[in-house]
Formats: sequence, C-alpha cells, structure tokens
Amino acid sequence: MNSVARSRIYHPARALAVCSGVILTAGVGAGCADQPGEDGEQIEFTSTEQAITAVAGDPLPGTDAVGFAGARTAFMTVEGLDDGLGPIFNEKACGNCHTQGAIGGAGVQIERRFGKVVNGIFNTLSNEGGSLRQLFTVGAFTGLGGQACNPPLEVEPADATVHNVGRLTTPLFGAGLIEAIPDSVIVANAQNQPLSIRGTVSNVKVLLPNPNQPSALNTTRVGRFGWKAGIATLAQFAADAYLNEMGISTQSCIGGTSVTAFAFESKPNGVAVPAGCDDRAPAHAAISGVPASTDDVVGTCAAGQTELQDDVAEFTEFMTFLAPAPRTAIDPNINLQGGTVFNAIGCAGCHLLKDYVTPSAPVNGVPGNFTFRPRSDFLLHNIGTGDGIGNDGDSVATTNLVRTAPLWGLHHRTKFMHDGASTSITAAIARHGGQASTARSNFNALGTSDRNAMLTAMNSD
Ligand code: HEC
Ligand code: HEC
Repeated sequence: MNSVARSRIYHPARALAVCSGVILTAGVGAGCADQPGEDGEQIEFTSTEQAITAVAGDPLPGTDAVGFAGARTAFMTVEGLDDGLGPIFNEKACGNCHTQGAIGGAGVQIERRFGKVVNGIFNTLSNEGGSLRQLFTVGAFTGLGGQACNPPLEVEPADATVHNVGRLTTPLFGAGLIEAIPDSVIVANAQNQPLSIRGTVSNVKVLLPNPNQPSALNTTRVGRFGWKAGIATLAQFAADAYLNEMGISTQSCIGGTSVTAFAFESKPNGVAVPAGCDDRAPAHAAISGVPASTDDVVGTCAAGQTELQDDVAEFTEFMTFLAPAPRTAIDPNINLQGGTVFNAIGCAGCHLLKDYVTPSAPVNGVPGNFTFRPRSDFLLHNIGTGDGIGNDGDSVATTNLVRTAPLWGLHHRTKFMHDGASTSITAAIARHGGQASTARSNFNALGTSDRNAMLTAMNSD
C-alpha cells in the first residue's frame, strides 16, 4: 500500500462499527475477521500488482507472441460440418461465446441443462442426452458416403424433473494463473473459513492433464473451473467444450495412454445418429479403442507419447497465457474504502481479498512467483442459488453448491450469476442467501458513501 492510499478520507472506526454490528446482531463472526484481514482492517480492493497489461485480451508477460496469436486464431476459428461440427452443438467457435472485453471474455450466451432426481439422488439422464441440452442441430446434409442425413434437435426429455437450467458463459482472463494455484492452497482456504461460511473442496478426476504433467492423468485434483468447479485443468475443459459445445470429438495421448473420454460423438437424446451422419469430417486411420467417428485424433500413442489433439492444444495454450483483464483507473481513496467495506461486511469471506502467488516454476508454464487477485476461494458454497444440476449420484445438497465466482474483469460484464439472470452487480448481491445472507444483510445496511465506494471499486476491475 503506497502513501497515497494511506492519506485517505476514510474513517477506520466506521468499518469496525459495521463489523461489530454483525457480531451483535448475528451472534457469529461470519463476515468479520475474514482472512487475510482483521476486524476493521484497511484493505485495498485491487492490489497494485495486477496492473500488468494494457488491454483485455493481452497475454501474460513473457508469453511467446507468435504462438499466442496462433492459439487465439484457433480459439476464434469457426468450424463447419467438414471439420466435425455436429451432430448437435451450441456454437461454431469458442470465440463466438467468450467475447466480452476481448476474445476469451465472458459472454451473453446461456446454455441449458436438465436432469432428474430419483430418491434424492441426481441423474444426468445421460441415456437421454443429458445433462447439457445442445441448442442446435447441423440439420439436413449429405454424408461423406452419399447418404441423406438429418440429425434431430435434442429436446428436454419428458421425465426430467430439473428443467431448463441456465448457465452463463464465464470469462477466461487469468485462467492459467488459476490453474497454477496448488490444490493445498484451495484446501487451506476452506480450513481458514469460519464454519458458518465454510466452502466445500471440489475433488475431481483429471481426465486430461496439462501435457507437461502426464503423471496427473486419472489422479484426483481440486476442481476450479466452471460454475461448479467441476474441472481441474484447462486441457480437459478445452476437450470437453470442443465436444459438448461444438460437437467436435477428439483423442489425445498422455504418457502413452490413449485418452478417449472426449472421442465419442454426442447422441441427440441418447440415440446415436446413423453411421456417417454425425458430420462430414474425413475418416482417420483405425486406432484401437477410438471410434471411427472421432473427428480429430493423434494416433496410437506408442512409445509413451504425450500429445494433445492439436486444436485442444491451441485452446489450452490461448487460455493458459491469457492475462487477467486490466482494471480501470480508480481514486486510491475509493479503492481503499471500497476494499475495506467489502472485507468488513463479509464479502471477502468467500471472495477473498488476498493475493495468490503462482509457484516458482508452474507446471503449465505461466510466470512463476506471479501475484494476482481473482477474489475467489475456488470453493463450492450454498448461497441459495443452486440450480439442482450435478453429476450422476450427487445428493440434492451437492447439486445446489456453486463455486464462488471470481470477481475480476467485472466492468466488461452485462450478465451475472450462474444463470445470467442478474443484469447488475447489485442485483447479483440481492440474490445472495444461504451462507452469504449475513453479508447481503450487511450490504443492505450500508450508508451511501460506503455502498458507492464498494460498488465503484468492484466496477473498476
Ligand atoms: C455456446 C457458448 C460456448 C462455447 C462455444 C464455448 N464456451 Fe466455454 N463456456 C461457456 C459456458 C456457458 C461456460 C460455463 C459452463 C459451466 O460451468 O456450466 C463456459 C466455461 C468455460 C471455461 C471455464 C472457465 C471458468 O470460469 O472456470 C473454459 C475453460 C471454457 N469455457 C473454454 C472453452 C473453450 C476452449 C471453448 C471452445 C472449444 C469454449 N469454451 C466454447 C460457453 C461456451
Ligand atoms: C458464502 C460465500 C459468499 C459470500 C459471503 C459472498 N458471495 Fe458473492 N458469490 C458466491 C457464489 C457461490 C457466487 C456464484 C453464485 C451463482 O452464480 O449462483 C457468487 C457470485 C457473486 C457475484 C456474481 C459474479 C458473476 O461472475 O456473475 C457477485 C457480483 C458477488 N458474488 C458479489 C458479492 C458481494 C458484493 C458480497 C458481499 C455482500 C458477496 N458476493 C458475498 C459466494 C459468496
């Protein structure tokens, strides 16, 4: 904190008063003394270190510019039937959804999911095409074998009990830094939280690791990506999105193992389209265990080969080296007042106002010892917004947990919360209940100066 920030107009006693008010009325310490602050601690909303790039969409410092530009082009490339698009899909390019602020940003597209609860246990209805309901079919076309093809559009099955759930497109700025956070740091975030707001670590299986770490294949790691923190690596998210958003199926090689988790074409409502009617991607050489319909393959994976399918590799590179979006200019006094209020009323209990630092030599190649402040604990919470969608076998309680949304790059956004149903930051705050209800009440009780300072600080990032 520099001397300008210290010569503030803000009165520390007021933050203390808000915080002790919480203790008196709620009888718990939730919202007070959250890490890293103490009661009434003065803390800037945005740390100075984060001003590292000129514009949103820039790469992290030290990134190979040519490689990054090529990866960005791949991320923006619009795919067609001949590339493997289909049989059903949501969009034709990653960059058609991740657009706000720059390519790689959040988006306005809202995807749809469904599922069914049987005896308190969630079922994705995978045999009926769940839980993602792709919004488009490639429609009528002539297959490479000359056959007439017309894949049907997926519809919500009649036996679904969880209906038409929305999922907003999230931003990817700084994703490689998030990937580099050690699991132990996220686990510690939970341990440091008071019980009333303690988050749940999302332990997930790594189906596709970063190629620099083949040994991570099929190990359990802490998930951190997506609204439900369901995925731990960017390579896996890339292959998953390529398949599920665009219908492009891929095989990759990791340490000699052929990874086929993303090699199988989508079946609209669980019914496979006739052979050759998934798309018009050219045939590949036969590989044991890889379907003939897989659009893009690496090969047999002999001799311990590690190689991501090339598009998946490009997407992974782009997302890994995409820097956090720069903040806008803010009066240092407002930055300090806003951060102090944000901390004092309990928002920072989950949206941590701490700087993360990457390890000295991160596996994914992002800069080492690099400071960033995404304002999330990367844990799952029930704040009363749960959408009831989960993985097969999840309890209903688990399906209602949502990852603490990182609060950076907010000024580029027009929609908020997992379903995109909120169109302002204040509307998003108003929906915080459950574990976040004390923080929301504290926000509602703020005076005009504190409220405005906090919102201005949030909007400056
Ligand atoms: C149809 C729009 C759409 C397309 C196309 C799309 N995405 Fe996304 N993306 C989303 C949505 C919606 C989410 C949030 C998903 C969720 O968590 O339920 C998301 C989330 C992500 C995340 C997680 C980020 C975070 O917040 O943790 C990554 C990584 C990602 N997408 C990468 C990709 C890549 C790579 C492609 C291209 C292969 C792609 N996306 C194509 C809509 C899209
Ligand atoms: C108990 C943990 C917790 C606390 C405390 C909390 N939040 Fe959140 N916040 C979340 C979770 C979880 C989400 C995602 C919820 C969803 O999308 O359904 C979220 C989402 C948001 C979003 C939307 C971000 C986006 O990308 O759409 C904003 C803005 C936000 N919180 C601000 C605040 C503010 C301001 C406070 C204090 C008044 C606060 N939060 C307190 C957990 C918390």
